[in-house]
Amino acid sequence: MFTLLIKNATLPDGRSGMDVGVADGCIRAIAPNIEQQAQRVIDARGYLLSPPFVDPHFHMDAAMSLGQPRLNRSGTLLEGIALWKELKPQLSFDGVVERALAVCHQAIAQGVLHIRTHVDICDSRLEAVRALLEVRERMADYLDLQLVAFPQDGYLRCPDAAANLQRALDLGVDVVGGIPHFERTMQDGSTSIRALCEIAAERGLRVDMHCDESDDPLSRHVETLAAETCRLGLHGRVTASHLTSMHSMDNYYVSKLLPLMAEAELHVVANPLVNMNLQGRQDTYPKRRGVTRVPELLNAGINVAYGHDCVMDPWYSLGSHDMLDVAHMGIHATHMTALAQMEESFAMITERGARVLGLAGYGLEPGCHADMVLLQARSRVDALRLRPPRLYVIRRGEIIAMTSEHKPELYLNGSKKELDLTSNAYLQ
Ligand code: FE2
Repeated sequence: MFTLLIKNATLPDGRSGMDVGVADGCIRAIAPNIEQQAQRVIDARGYLLSPPFVDPHFHMDAAMSLGQPRLNRSGTLLEGIALWKELKPQLSFDGVVERALAVCHQAIAQGVLHIRTHVDICDSRLEAVRALLEVRERMADYLDLQLVAFPQDGYLRCPDAAANLQRALDLGVDVVGGIPHFERTMQDGSTSIRALCEIAAERGLRVDMHCDESDDPLSRHVETLAAETCRLGLHGRVTASHLTSMHSMDNYYVSKLLPLMAEAELHVVANPLVNMNLQGRQDTYPKRRGVTRVPELLNAGINVAYGHDCVMDPWYSLGSHDMLDVAHMGIHATHMTALAQMEESFAMITERGARVLGLAGYGLEPGCHADMVLLQARSRVDALRLRPPRLYVIRRGEIIAMTSEHKPELYLNGSKKELDLTSNAYLQ
């Protein structure tokens, strides 16, 4: 007896007419025409059933704070950091909890059930840290939150950051963060990477650094991050986020860098919505896109995922925590428009993100957690094209969000016509 049976779904790999049986919060069977009884049956009507979306890079402490205390006038990363610094002393525990819960609810409605969020540890009160730990606890049945101790004002540049980072990890923050390109000098950037990777190695934690979020082609901290990962045996546990300087680097240097990153088994997270917004701001024309070299990284065997980064905060005024928006922008920014590349882009907001987070039990296989999203789309690429309603969002076999189908009605020549926007064209 299943608690839930989903009938006639199309799976991300293109198999159609598939049924998925769930019991005890886990997927128990995936096959065509399952006849077993179930307490609840969902007719998927051929729509796409996916594992949940994963956002491996977010800033939940800043999300939904747009306009507090003012808007970013220049649109640059540096004005965003300065603006956030103005807001930080005014943050309250309750205020951060309220904004974070609002964005968690938005994420769930969009089918995002795993988020890695950075939390700024440079305010010695650690109000945001305590608030997000509370939110992690309160949302645990619905959404997995991983917290990164993030020294936004620089690990060495901010006098209290080193002590605060240790305090945050003692309180239960999961991952060690960093921001080497924001330290005073290149050398300080390297020193910070060394110190932070050593902390992670000692504590048995993962690392996720904002790394080379700059248009400066000589911002090359990722090579130090890769080298420290190898030195400390942290292979597969370190993520380099942003890497926008790679967009502008010399090709010869990149040809040396890619194998080094592969050797360290680094994960890379690009954030196309925010990279496209913040990078190239000092350029006249042509304006650089700033998104890192995604196809080249993938071809080098490096795991790359896409993150949302920001929703309505000092760095980005838009966003609704929809990972399909993120991948849609990524496809355009990286020219990854071949069919296989678009399908890979869908993996970058699902399974590749899960690898960044080190998730266990993720996926659409018997034995995995029964966490799923039914999309009003016929395939992965159709989902990217339409960014359609998430008809059902399921967590451990329970429905936790529903959205009605989108059915535009046309009234032409005196009669009503209902439009079906979905397409089977991408199914080979
Ligand atoms: Fe970020």
